[in-house]
Amino acid sequence: MDKIPECLIHPVSIKLLRQGHPWITADTFSSRFPRQSEFVIGLDDRRRPLALLLHDPHHKSVKARVWSTKFPFDREAQHFTASVQARLDLAFEKRIHSKVQLKRENYYLAFGEADQLPGLFILRLQDRVLIQFYTGLWVRYKQVIATTIQEVFPEIKSENVWFQLRGETKELQKLPQNALEPTRRDEFHLSEFGVQYLIRIGATYDHGLYTDMSSVRQALGGLIFPGARVLNLYSYTGAFSLWALKHGAGNVVSVDLSPKYIEWLQNNLALNPDLDHTKHEAVVKSTDQALGDLRGLKRTFDVIICDPPSSSSDGAKRTSAIKAYRELLSKMDLLLEKGGKAVLFLNTHQVSQEKFEKTLREYLTELKLTYKLSTRLHLGEDCPTLKGFPEGNYLKGIVLEKQ
Ligand SMILES: C[S@@+](CC[C@H](N)C(=O)[O-])C[C@H]1O[C@@H](n2cnc3c(N)ncnc32)[C@H](O)[C@@H]1O
Repeated sequence: MDKIPECLIHPVSIKLLRQGHPWITADTFSSRFPRQSEFVIGLDDRRRPLALLLHDPHHKSVKARVWSTKFPFDREAQHFTASVQARLDLAFEKRIHSKVQLKRENYYLAFGEADQLPGLFILRLQDRVLIQFYTGLWVRYKQVIATTIQEVFPEIKSENVWFQLRGETKELQKLPQNALEPTRRDEFHLSEFGVQYLIRIGATYDHGLYTDMSSVRQALGGLIFPGARVLNLYSYTGAFSLWALKHGAGNVVSVDLSPKYIEWLQNNLALNPDLDHTKHEAVVKSTDQALGDLRGLKRTFDVIICDPPSSSSDGAKRTSAIKAYRELLSKMDLLLEKGGKAVLFLNTHQVSQEKFEKTLREYLTELKLTYKLSTRLHLGEDCPTLKGFPEGNYLKGIVLEKQ
């Protein structure tokens, strides 16, 4: 193996890295890393080696990810493939021993940085696996990853292994591809807490069910009482709507702007004959319009679930979800019964849980609304987070109780 280049890193990166942050972002230092090197040794301002980094010159913002802080780094690099296998084994072992897979057929087998597998996420979807790369570096290790998975889970057939490039930048946003037949599209269903969902891989960027929300859906189980009236805003394919019906809701209204996702939701309902479909109403409208229309009809609800995209555009301007919450809160309040609960989510690492709650409190004061902030919701179980790495802790939620 060639000598690994040693490169100074930015003073801010040095500080963050020492606090456990595993990324080196784009700056004047990381732009000087030799482009052809897969590994780089990061040096501090006194040229002391700090970490062995996986270099990703093609990524727009994350130029390198910490692989190891253990010396000697050249040995760590030589043993890279064996360490990948060992870290995968460890990640799988943790999930095998948890009870996650007993209650649901969708869960993460590896969750990136928190499993010491930077930028590598592996989902188990019934008898399939979807391997997601957030850095192009992993593409060269496809075979190693697939083989390691199949050694631990021999029931996963090669034709059921899928790969996907994902990320914030366009170059990394690709549809999942089947390992053996790159043009294949796959449709099947899986069960989560006794509810069936239609999964589509290969046809769309997301496959129809957010696995990172699974533990949240479970945590919220106690919120729905028999007969509860539930409004599910930004419903997507209806995971929360079906979950509410399963918990005995008396009426569920799902709102999404996209006819495609509402049709998918209807397909999901059709997979669950035990749920009472007459208790469900699907509305293809913007949340804003739906909230106004429901108010006009004097409809009220016991539970409102609100899971907006982190930012949205009306064509003219882009609004972040955190900003949109002021108006959303005021409109949701008109539909929520006294004693009712609003379950609010925010899907971005840019706002911490504390800041999210502080902002909501400020809006409530401005709007003269009295709510108690109760249960906090976050990634859990198969989706661990790392201290000092807010980017990995993107999902936050809070239950608001109307006083
Ligand atoms: C983050 S996903 C919601 C995920 C969903 N809550 C779940 O648990 O599966 C956001 C959804 O909001 C929808 N959407 C985006 N802008 C919207 C708007 N202004 N009004 C209603 N739905 C919207 C999108 O079509 C998408 O399905």
